[in-house]
Amino acid sequence: MKKFTYLSIFTLLVASAILVISGCTKEGPQGIAGTNGENGINGQDGTAGCAECHDNNQTLFAMVNQWEHSTHALGGNYERNSTSCATCHTSQGFLERMASGEQVTAEAINNPNPINCYTCHKIHDTYTTADWDFTYQNPVELWYVNDTKAMYDMGKSNVCANCHQGRVVSPSPVVGSPDMYTVTSSRFGMHHGPVANMFVGSGGYEVGSGYANSLHSTTVENGCVTCHMATAYGAQAGGHTFGVGYDYHGSMELNDAGCVACHEDGVEAIVEYRQTETNALLADLKQILMDMSILGEDDLVITSSSDPIILTADQAGAVINYQFVREDRSGGVHNPTYSKKLLENTIAALTN
Ligand code: HEC
Ligand code: HEC
Ligand code: HEC
Ligand code: HEC
Ligand code: HEC
Ligand code: HEC
Repeated sequence: MKKFTYLSIFTLLVASAILVISGCTKEGPQGIAGTNGENGINGQDGTAGCAECHDNNQTLFAMVNQWEHSTHALGGNYERNSTSCATCHTSQGFLERMASGEQVTAEAINNPNPINCYTCHKIHDTYTTADWDFTYQNPVELWYVNDTKAMYDMGKSNVCANCHQGRVVSPSPVVGSPDMYTVTSSRFGMHHGPVANMFVGSGGYEVGSGYANSLHSTTVENGCVTCHMATAYGAQAGGHTFGVGYDYHGSMELNDAGCVACHEDGVEAIVEYRQTETNALLADLKQILMDMSILGEDDLVITSSSDPIILTADQAGAVINYQFVREDRSGGVHNPTYSKKLLENTIAALTN
């Protein structure tokens, strides 16, 4: 049993050695250390996407600064948060409309925001630069269509056309109709900013003949963006100020950076010519409507729900056309050919 003896002695030695080492503690013996695992593949940096926009090249700051000087930020009309106004006047209402396709929001918008980065761009959606994509980019079927379904499709400016379009006009006079139209709203017309309708040359009361669109409607690839978001001039115009004309030390100037590709130079002179002619036609039409006691000096229709005004198709159409060109606010520059013909034909129809 020699073997047993050696083993016993060895066991005894080991046991007493452990006892000595562990002393009086009750802990068990330490296990054998395992080998280290292989290093894992590095995970993606959680902020890499963020840094593509939030870095120190100052681009984001430039855009924010320009926007802060824009009427989108400063106009102050975003308290218009009721269901029928919030779709264009508040950021949240606009995004709700883009998702629902409705012309009104379900509820009034609480904590309304003005038009901002999140309105036009998909900010913080994927947290990558793909978020510069627009919240809306398809062609826009305009609301105020009269008798045709007008589409606005001008590249990057499709997002703009959703808001800068006419509202539905009621009643909507039909050219040549013998009907009489009862107008109860002093603000009868397409509402402020029917620019998209002006571009496609649709929505006017097209009395008479000879209507056509300017080449602006077909050749200016990105519509509004080409002219209004051209290379910025400080924070006065261009880029995310969304402005073309600006006041510079008391005189009106034009940021022509978006024009020069087509109009070499001297574009200011043709703008002045066009605006002078348009304003003269508008003044003539206004005088005629005032002489007919339809329009007041303040550009409002002389009417109320208790004392409504009743108009012929041509008279109601003339109010729509007057407000259309006036509220477009470019003085005929947007669609020179169409706006000029519209005013001339309207004046002819009323004075014949
Ligand atoms: C597509 C570009 C883009 C990416 C990518 C991006 N952001 Fe932003 N972020 C913006 C814009 C635009 C704003 C609003 C402008 C501003 O307030 O400066 C903003 C605003 C913010 C703000 C200010 C508070 C707010 O919400 O308005 C914080 C904080 C922020 N981002 C954090 C992040 C983090 C964290 C990431 C990555 C997980 C990230 N962002 C990714 C563009 C981006
Ligand atoms: C969500 C609706 C909406 C979108 C989208 C939108 N706008 Fe506007 N825009 C408005 C409203 C509303 C105002 C007036 C703001 C106010 O008075 O508070 C305005 C004002 C402006 C003005 C200033 C007019 C002035 O008197 O100074 C310009 C120019 C303009 N927008 C151009 C654009 C362009 C270009 C785009 C597209 C890149 C665009 N807008 C997209 C609703 C919109
Ligand atoms: C289809 C979009 C749209 C809807 C809906 C809309 N607006 Fe506007 N509104 C605009 C745009 C665009 C402008 C800015 C036009 C411009 O500056 O050329 C504007 C401008 C205004 C202004 C400023 C006018 C000025 O002369 O400074 C007021 C006030 C206003 N809207 C009130 C309303 C009210 C009230 C409602 C609801 C009954 C409403 N809007 C619904 C697009 C809309
Ligand atoms: C009314 C709509 C509108 C608003 C509001 C708006 N943007 Fe834009 N943004 C545009 C359009 C349209 C373009 C494309 C301009 C062009 O191509 O010339 C653009 C382009 C950009 C680009 C270049 C994107 C690229 O693909 O490289 C940046 C950066 C940007 N915007 C940042 C901002 C920030 C920051 C804000 C908020 C402070 C903002 N935008 C608010 C419409 C808007
Ligand atoms: C061919 C160039 C061009 C295009 C395209 C264009 N605009 Fe203009 N827009 C102008 C000029 C020029 C003015 C007059 C500026 C002035 O007299 O100060 C103007 C005036 C305006 C005004 C009046 C307030 C201001 O900023 O002077 C608004 C609002 C406006 N445009 C919106 C739009 C919208 C929205 C679109 C697209 C649907 C658009 N524009 C497309 C050139 C353009
Ligand atoms: C893509 C080319 C293009 C761009 C960009 C462009 N235009 Fe034009 N514009 C034309 C053409 C072509 C005509 C003449 C034919 C027509 O009106 O059908 C014209 C006509 C005009 C007219 C009318 C002149 C008249 O006879 O009454 C004015 C004003 C005008 N442009 C101003 C501008 C301004 C201001 C800008 C920049 C903010 C601009 N355009 C940008 C192509 C362009």
